[in-house]
Amino acid sequence: MEIIESPQEMQRLAESYRKAGLAVAFVPTMGYFHEGHLELMREGKRLADRLVVSIYVNPAQFSPGEDFERYPRDFERDRKLASTVGADVIFRPSNAQMYPPGHLTYVNVLAMTGRLCGESRPNYFQGVTTICTKLFNIVKPHLAVFGKKDFQQYQVIRRMVLDLNLDLEIVGLATVREEDGLAMSSRNVYLKPDERASALSLVKSLKAAQELYDRGERDSRTILERVRGMIEGHPGCGIDYAGIFNTETFEDMERVEGQAVLALAVKVGKTRLIDNHVFGEELRF
Ligand code: PAF
Repeated sequence: MEIIESPQEMQRLAESYRKAGLAVAFVPTMGYFHEGHLELMREGKRLADRLVVSIYVNPAQFSPGEDFERYPRDFERDRKLASTVGADVIFRPSNAQMYPPGHLTYVNVLAMTGRLCGESRPNYFQGVTTICTKLFNIVKPHLAVFGKKDFQQYQVIRRMVLDLNLDLEIVGLATVREEDGLAMSSRNVYLKPDERASALSLVKSLKAAQELYDRGERDSRTILERVRGMIEGHPGCGIDYAGIFNTETFEDMERVEGQAVLALAVKVGKTRLIDNHVFGEELRF
């Protein structure tokens, strides 16, 4: 497995893969791998001849007061884990390489980024779409694999790829969960034992919502009352948002009809967790 730090070197290698007719899969990450990341990598490996994984904690997607400084980092651990799933390259650029002095260019997807995570994290989507565009230009992948735990991010990236005619396919993978149902996230390490118990209210409320749906309930307000009640009944939980949205536009849906996602962002203690469920899809828990 190669470790590459320079964007130019990565571009040269990517070009040589393409010239040799090799299909390249890409998994962009901020590191501190968990089983969810490894699943994305296994899928990339399954779908292509070469797998490139990036590790870069992107400052542009954090707003002031968020956890950029304390975001967990452990490159040696990540290196070992990536090699166990057969990654061919880890691309690990520095801030100076990704945002050189005088950097002025950003990519923005409109409308659908203004709600949910875009509302509570003002810099988030501009940072994500800008860094992903840059990484796609450097790694030149044929496909990139994203987790659907970050459902809005996944849909925003798909929209951007379509709108900008980017020459790659976006593959989405179902959320990977711990045995108790908690969605895997690098931020789960922040949770204290009692907070972890409260954090399970997210997945439990998603399950309750699907059960209401299965019994024929289609009124969003009724479903959301149940969801909010379940989350707020747990100590230390504060809802940032809990809503039922159109999966493409992220507008509110009064009734659960067509493609609807129940999306949650909840602060458990100081840790902000997100989770979601698309009605009618399997909730593996
Ligand atoms: O989902 C993430 O880990 C990040 O938002 C991403 C896609 C790697 C961009 O920094």
